[in-house]
Amino acid sequence: MNDQLIEKAQKYIRELFRGNSGGHDANHSLRVYSLAMRIADTQPECDRTVVALAALLHDADDYKLFNTNDNANARAFLQENGIKTDTVELICEAINGVSFSKNRTKAPSTIEGKIVQDADRLDALGAIGIARTFAFGGEHGRSIESTIDHFHQKLLLLKDGMNTPAAKAIAQERHAFLEEFLRRYEREENLKD
Ligand code: ADP
Ligand code: NI
Repeated sequence: MNDQLIEKAQKYIRELFRGNSGGHDANHSLRVYSLAMRIADTQPECDRTVVALAALLHDADDYKLFNTNDNANARAFLQENGIKTDTVELICEAINGVSFSKNRTKAPSTIEGKIVQDADRLDALGAIGIARTFAFGGEHGRSIESTIDHFHQKLLLLKDGMNTPAAKAIAQERHAFLEEFLRRYEREENLKD
C-alpha cells in the first residue's frame, strides 16, 4: 500500500470535515480507517488499498454534511491522485454500501465493502459510540432521554449484523459496554423516585 497516498487522503478528510464536531468529525473517519485495517489483516484476500481509501473517504459525501452527487468529493480526491477507473468504482461501491439507514440489513457484496461497513458500525459502539451518540443528540437539540432511545433503535442492533469474525469479536465487547452503560444509567435515573 502507498503510504504517501494514505497520508494525502488523511489530510484531505481533515480539510473536508473542518468545523464539524462530535458525531461526524474527521477523527471518526480516521478511526474507521484504523479499525478497517485491523479487520483487513484477518482477511488476506482483500485489496488493502481499496479498504483504506474507502474507509477514509466513506463519509466524504454523506448527505447530512455535503450536498454532492455520485460520490463527487471522494471521486475528486481519487481522480486527482491518479487512481485507476476500476479501482475508483470499487472504492465508491464499498463507500455506498456502508450507510446503516440506506442499507439496513443488506450486506455489501464485496469483501472490501463488508470490512468498511463493519469498521463504521464498530465506531458507533463502545465508549466512542456513546460519546458520538450524545454529541449527535446535542447537535440536534435532542434531550438526553430521547438520545437514549437511539441505543434501542440502532446501536444495540449492530452487533448481530457484523460481516467478519474479527468485527464480531470487537462488537461483542463494545456491545457489552453499552449494556453496562444503560444498566447504570437506569439505576442512577431511578434514584429520583
Ligand atoms: P455513520 O454512518 O458514520 O455512523 P450516522 O450519521 O449514522 O453516521 O451517525 C453518526 C453518529 O451519530 C453515530 O454514532 C450514530 O450512532 C449517531 N446517531 C445517528 N442518528 C442518531 C440519533 N437519531 N440520535 C442519536 N445519535 C444518533
Ligand atoms: Ni461513518
